[in-house]
Amino acid sequence: MAVDLLLGLQWGDEGKGKIVDVLTTKYNIIARFQGGPNAGHTLEFDGIKHVLRTIPSGIFRKDSMNVIGNGVVIDPVVFVQELEGLDKFNLDYKSKLIISRKAHVILPTHRLLDAASETSKGKAKIGSTLKGIGPTYMDKTGRNGIRIGDLELDNWKDKYRALANKHEGMIAFYDVKVQYNLAEMEAEFFAAVERLKELQFIDSEEYLNQALKDGKSILAEGAQGSLLDIDFGTYPFVTSSNTTASGACTGLGVPPNKIGEVFGIFKAYTTRVGSGPFPTELFDQVGEDMARIGHEFGAVTGRARRCGWLDLVALRYACQVNGVTQLSMMKGDVLSGFTSLKVCTAYHYKGKEIKHFPFNIEAENVTPIYTEFKGWKADLTKMTEASQFPKELNDYIDFLEKELELPITIVSVGPDRTQTINR
Ligand code: GDP
Ligand code: IMO
Ligand code: MG
Repeated sequence: MAVDLLLGLQWGDEGKGKIVDVLTTKYNIIARFQGGPNAGHTLEFDGIKHVLRTIPSGIFRKDSMNVIGNGVVIDPVVFVQELEGLDKFNLDYKSKLIISRKAHVILPTHRLLDAASETSKGKAKIGSTLKGIGPTYMDKTGRNGIRIGDLELDNWKDKYRALANKHEGMIAFYDVKVQYNLAEMEAEFFAAVERLKELQFIDSEEYLNQALKDGKSILAEGAQGSLLDIDFGTYPFVTSSNTTASGACTGLGVPPNKIGEVFGIFKAYTTRVGSGPFPTELFDQVGEDMARIGHEFGAVTGRARRCGWLDLVALRYACQVNGVTQLSMMKGDVLSGFTSLKVCTAYHYKGKEIKHFPFNIEAENVTPIYTEFKGWKADLTKMTEASQFPKELNDYIDFLEKELELPITIVSVGPDRTQTINR
């Protein structure tokens, strides 16, 4: 058996949660491999909307196991809030959710460090979700971190104290005011750790590789998007983990030759939340209409998402880096009623026309070159088969498939589980 991957190809919020939920019925195990509570994955079914942060999007389906892999960073406080959100749905998550001992723990002081670092950057800030992601991964690679498995040791609080004291020194080093009451934050944190310890901690790489041997199927769920990858994204305006395909190998301990399908998912347009370059960003009424119709507000922070046309230069790059084998196009329904649509197929870059994603995509270096399409008027949200699609939508999809040299096998026409069309 293989591990299939589901990855966002843009700057996050492509609709990963929805598609994982749809695909879960085909898999025995759903596994998150990177990121943490900076993610907000939305699932909608039976008239209810759920937003998951660290818990894999397979949690609502009866028969799937959900694994939080070693590459994930976990904030016990947010995690317990997430569990409490699930409590009202009578889910037996204690038997369906398992956590890698090698996953790293986000401490209250990591969140404070995130805030201090962002404030000190002023206008150059990343636009972080301020969940402590960057500082936690820094401690991981700096070999100072506390892992989930450490919480099982009697003396883990000694290790905690030493690290938190070091962090306090670092917060003081930043020449910015960060108000906090650490005693209160710690009380909440220690209580949450106790709750977290009621769940099963495992050696997840052993569990997953054994599951493969036993013929079980695994879907690895990505968080964020390829353009937020620490290596391949629009650095430094990125997150602190590898969001691309190889992150699934290091974040779960599954070898590269066990990777099967790579599902790449993208919106029919582009959004970005936080700072950083965005060549096809719109600053006019069209962009505002996209944001309004698409309800483009962050699932985690509520911040307005910046909107723009689809960027095939960026998308081609993401497909290449990830080895995408099939695509899902999300939110096509949002574009219904736009008279014309544009797709960026190349960039003007330093006097030349280029088709590859260059080192620097700041606005002063890059001007998008567009192909224009006639829009469609039909409401897609009630459609159930691709044969009902208007000609203009088919033209749009055919063009993208040709440019990307990949099939678009899923077209999503609304937020609900049922609003999903296979082609
Ligand atoms: P994720 O982080 O990739 O899981 O995506 P988010 O949940 O942050 O953002 C996607 C948003 O779009 C959520 O509010 C979804 O409910 C919604 N959504 C997903 N697919 C569609 C779609 O095809 N059409 C519309 N209109 N909304 C969608
Ligand atoms: P999902 O999984 C969209 C963005 C932040 C910021 C940058 C760094 O829901 O797609 P961080 O908190 O990691 O320090 O923020 O990355 N960002 C996301 N944008 N969707 C996400 O997750 C994101 N997670 C982080 O806005 O620009
Ligand atoms: Mg999201």
